[in-house]
Amino acid sequence: GKNVGVLAMDIYFPPTCVLQESLEAFDGASKGKYTIGLGQDCMAFCTEVEDVISMSLTVVTSLLEKYEIDPKQIGRLEVGSETVIDKSKSIKTWLMKIFEEHGNTDIEGVDSTNACYGGTAALFNCVNWVESNSWDGRYGLVVCTDSAVYAEGPARPTGGAAAIAMLIGPNAPIAFESKYRGTHMAHVYDFYKPILASEYPVVDGKLSQTCYLMALDSCYKRYTNKYQKFEGKAFSNLDADSFVFHSPYNKLVQKSFARLYFNDFLRDSSLVDENAKDKLEPFAHLTGDESYQNRDLEKASLQASKQLYDEKVQPSTLIPKQVGNMYTASLYAALASVIHHRHNNLDDKRLVMFSYGSGLSSTMFSFKLHSGQHPFSLSNIVSVLNVAEKLQGRHVFPPEKFVETLQVMEHRYGAKDFETSKDVSLLSPGTFFLTHVDSKYRRYYEKK
Ligand code: ACO
Repeated sequence: GKNVGVLAMDIYFPPTCVLQESLEAFDGASKGKYTIGLGQDCMAFCTEVEDVISMSLTVVTSLLEKYEIDPKQIGRLEVGSETVIDKSKSIKTWLMKIFEEHGNTDIEGVDSTNACYGGTAALFNCVNWVESNSWDGRYGLVVCTDSAVYAEGPARPTGGAAAIAMLIGPNAPIAFESKYRGTHMAHVYDFYKPILASEYPVVDGKLSQTCYLMALDSCYKRYTNKYQKFEGKAFSNLDADSFVFHSPYNKLVQKSFARLYFNDFLRDSSLVDENAKDKLEPFAHLTGDESYQNRDLEKASLQASKQLYDEKVQPSTLIPKQVGNMYTASLYAALASVIHHRHNNLDDKRLVMFSYGSGLSSTMFSFKLHSGQHPFSLSNIVSVLNVAEKLQGRHVFPPEKFVETLQVMEHRYGAKDFETSKDVSLLSPGTFFLTHVDSKYRRYYEKK
């Protein structure tokens, strides 16, 4: 097939959230630390009736219905998630319930896990399948689902929760430029989940920030090298309409784009404007390691890239700022945000994507966009995503209730023999919810 990529997508995030401004005050952090310092507005979280399985059941059912896809037409289903529930039993097997009912059990794929990168691994698997000899002509389906929760402390405001589903096939409005992938993988302990009795990660926040930026530099070098090799000319930021980043929190996204801009300057100073050249010149001779720790460079490159950030990055930040870090879904929620804002102006435009998962694995790749044909058109994707209404329809919890919810979830994690409140008053019709877990840890869900 030609132009293999994303034909359709849908997003689900819990209707329950906490405002960063009130969380900041509640945590006794200085005013502005979460809203300006981290750049976040709001954080979604699952209450005791929702989890990564219910969210993925909700989003897959919704995608199939809204784009009128026959479940028999799915030939591969891949899930990316780092939220551990049954360890050896993949979330994908749970989703088979939807397809079994329609007599389709002929579906390849299982879960992919490596922190926030699992969704990208799942996406590559599906795209590679459609581009391969084993493709049987049916659609691939990718699901990214995560609930990001942290122990009390500085990482807690960087949580979030969501599930995204993407239908994969040829002639896609969001088509892969398969030749231009640049990957960087390495062994580091920046964020991992060795405590199996807890849902919370062990995280070295500062190390994870540096690893993220080093991985970004490395992927950008490889991406631009491949671009140059195939296009016969240097890549410049003018060649992309948007840069879309995995978004643990918005400040890191700002710093990431500034870093790309500094890379452009180092590679070929004619790629940045005159004003920026003067600002960045004093840092041209720093070693790589020095440059990650240099606060003056960070400040100068943030300033120099600010205007381009507003043009090429800002539109992608809507859902990540409002929902928080959705782990595997975060990058694709940023993609959904760009399409939401700019769908009328994306024909033949390039979107550069950066996926990062601690541990670590990372890839930069790109999409070429086309307006597409109904139902697989950018405008239909926007109406199915229905981002503005979903964001507005949420229910804001006070921080006390958020913390109380997390405490309940700590007790429930890995537990058996309990019933949930089954309080679905805040959920929209069609949302799946957890009703109980039996004496053998088997989980039961219903649909509102
Ligand atoms: N007003 C405005 N800005 C403020 C204020 C204030 N009152 N107070 C602090 N700030 C700024 C700081 O200067 C800092 O900005 P800077 O980075 O530009 O200097 C920012 O707010 C954060 O403050 P820190 O003191 O650096 O925050 P802290 O160390 O307490 O926690 C961290 C931040 C490390 C990101 C933490 O939230 C964390 O560990 N999160 C999880 C790890 C993570 O998300 N890593 C990213 C990649 S890996 C992944 O995706 C999981």
